[in-house]
Amino acid sequence: MSKRSSYLKRSKSTSFSSTSSTTEDKFLLPISTHRQPKIRVRTLLGHCLYRRVIIWAVTAFFLLCVGLVAHRPRILGLLSIPSEDQDAKVAEDIKTVLLLISEAMEQENEQGSYIFPEDEEDMPRWARFRHLEGYFNGIKALVPSDDYIPEYPRSRTGTWPFPVTGSYTGLPTPIPYVPRYSSESEICYIDKEQSVPAPDVYAYAGLVQGQPEPVFGSHSLLGLRDDICFDRFGRYGPYGLGYRFEDGGVEAGMDTEKAGSDEVWSETGKINYNLVDWGDAQCRCHELNKHRFDQQPSTKSDGDGSHGIVRISRTAVVIRLYVGFLWTQHAILNFRAMISELSLRSGGEYDVHFLLHVRDNYLPIWADGATAQRVLDENVPPEFHSICTLWSEAQMRLLYPIRFSSSVENPSNNDIHGVYRSAHFPLQHFAMAHPQYAHFWNWEMDMRWIGNYYELFDSLGAWTRSQPRVGIWERSAKYYIPRYHGTWDNFTDLVNRETEASGRLPIVGPATFPGKTALRSEDRGQSFLPDSCAGKLALDREKCGVGEDADLIMLNPLFDPEGSGWVFSKDVTGYSRGHPVPPRRSAIITASRLSRRLLEVMHEETWRLKHNMFSEMFPASMALHHGLKAVYAPHPVHVDREWELETLNEGFNGGQDGTTGGGRGSPYNLRNEHNHRGTTWYYNSEFAGLLWRRWLGYAQMDENGILRGGQEAEESKEGTGRMCLRSMLFHPVKWEHPDEY
Ligand SMILES: *[C@@H]1O[C@H](CO)[C@@H](O)[C@H](O)[C@H]1NC(C)=O
Repeated sequence: MSKRSSYLKRSKSTSFSSTSSTTEDKFLLPISTHRQPKIRVRTLLGHCLYRRVIIWAVTAFFLLCVGLVAHRPRILGLLSIPSEDQDAKVAEDIKTVLLLISEAMEQENEQGSYIFPEDEEDMPRWARFRHLEGYFNGIKALVPSDDYIPEYPRSRTGTWPFPVTGSYTGLPTPIPYVPRYSSESEICYIDKEQSVPAPDVYAYAGLVQGQPEPVFGSHSLLGLRDDICFDRFGRYGPYGLGYRFEDGGVEAGMDTEKAGSDEVWSETGKINYNLVDWGDAQCRCHELNKHRFDQQPSTKSDGDGSHGIVRISRTAVVIRLYVGFLWTQHAILNFRAMISELSLRSGGEYDVHFLLHVRDNYLPIWADGATAQRVLDENVPPEFHSICTLWSEAQMRLLYPIRFSSSVENPSNNDIHGVYRSAHFPLQHFAMAHPQYAHFWNWEMDMRWIGNYYELFDSLGAWTRSQPRVGIWERSAKYYIPRYHGTWDNFTDLVNRETEASGRLPIVGPATFPGKTALRSEDRGQSFLPDSCAGKLALDREKCGVGEDADLIMLNPLFDPEGSGWVFSKDVTGYSRGHPVPPRRSAIITASRLSRRLLEVMHEETWRLKHNMFSEMFPASMALHHGLKAVYAPHPVHVDREWELETLNEGFNGGQDGTTGGGRGSPYNLRNEHNHRGTTWYYNSEFAGLLWRRWLGYAQMDENGILRGGQEAEESKEGTGRMCLRSMLFHPVKWEHPDEY
């Protein structure tokens, strides 16, 4: 067997160094044990008609079985099983089958077919809006950013020249793109021999004509470049996209259009990643740059320039991985990019870690090194082994040995120490065990970023630091739609007026509520408010909190779950039941940055005060209770249709008093969540995956079931080549290469 290079596995390699004699198997990706059933269900349910028929057949058959099972004792004259047990068992079976059916339905939805109600009247309003086309134009339609006109939102003045018809000549040339790093640093290398420096990504100067603008958030507000775009080779070519395993690449991307892609290797050549050890690379890089960093981030960071040196604090990016995750070549590219851009190119300002959830509580991963190694070998590509931290739910029960009192509600019916409801537990523990970091990004495997990761995380940190505390909870409770709300100042004014009209007081400092218990530091009279907010009588609205690092950065609005119709809004545990449920905030999608002190608060609230809330609600609510700085950062989010802006605002800011919370109009209300299907950043979004895969160069089914894009279309004479998008986040990306579907 000489060739093993099926798409999902790496072939063995012969190059890079002579030490590969024992590493043959290292080049194989771990094999997922959880994959098989999923594929079968998907294949079976792949066709719309079959799908319906099968779902109904399964349902009918199941009901028949239930009938039989329920009556079996009488039919067969068997009475040995107590009837209560029997009922419980039947109930259990019913639940299992219903779960299977709902999972199948969910998968159907995941694959791009929203089930429209039969009745026109019940059609969601977005369904009336035209699909946007401008995303799918390619690099041959690149124009200087001054000449760029978005297909959407339409400008109120001037002409609207769409669809664009132009004659395209030649290919533009990409150029290395380096974001502004915070300070000079020693160069870091990928390999032990210190011969391969971490590469640059490449971007195109200009924008593809017609590309829609983001409707939520803004590049320029956050300080993200808005006059350049990235194609797949500029983004990932430096990390192995578009070349063979033999040359140290991942082979992905070779099956797509690639005119002119060689440019991205013109300076570095095709980098061989076959024997990289990322943990080692990160360590070497930090060691080389140690002098730049604050050694004690738990005390005051930034600006302690006692010797004229401004020492900077360090941030950990903690990615949640789990046993059984299917690693693909595209996933590998994404995390190579993340480590290279955040850690190596910044001279060690960030470290990337994987928090690997070992689901089997009975595996002796702590007692036996060989067992832990086997878990790694089976679940993680070798290049990432040294940055993995293993954890289990049994460990969380040991760390937080609490008999929690009953929850107000527990709609998921899951264990409170489990990852579903308490994903923050392992992160809290990780922070306690790693005092070298001041901030922690919580990140997930199915998120993608077009652009440079450093630019993303650094901009989010800087913009949230610049935000004043006064009004920040209120602004953070609302989607910012620049073309509808105007400038950020306009938006701020609007929020102030809406808050005043609502009769609620703006929140500054810790929330008070009946039954509140204090932290130890609060008992000692300490406060989390910065000096700039001192002077309680004459609070300086402009200054309070400006320059203060955010304790919590979320990438969706921080909404009030009370009365919002969000499913988990009352998954609250450990508070006195004689009082109303405490005030809370939540934000959907756990991608977030948490400060050390917020994690310390959460840790103490857990082990000492025995409080807990659902994963997406606990961090924001703790920030609210204790007066920490929490911010929703309005990063650029796109929609797939030409939403009328008024309708868009109603759909997404339709909660109480024009926010995303409270009331039936909350976009997180179960009835309204369909609105998010066409966005690029929401857990149930369909458009995120579709746009991402088109950008990778793979054809996708459009709303009429017609395959669009892909190699042939991008290579055709009439076509405009491969896509080039401005920087943006995508979630969820459940699969990438067509073979994974
Ligand atoms: C934004 O504020 C400016 C200056 O106050 C004002 O002229 C403009 O009309 C406002 N725009 C919107 C959309 O409210």
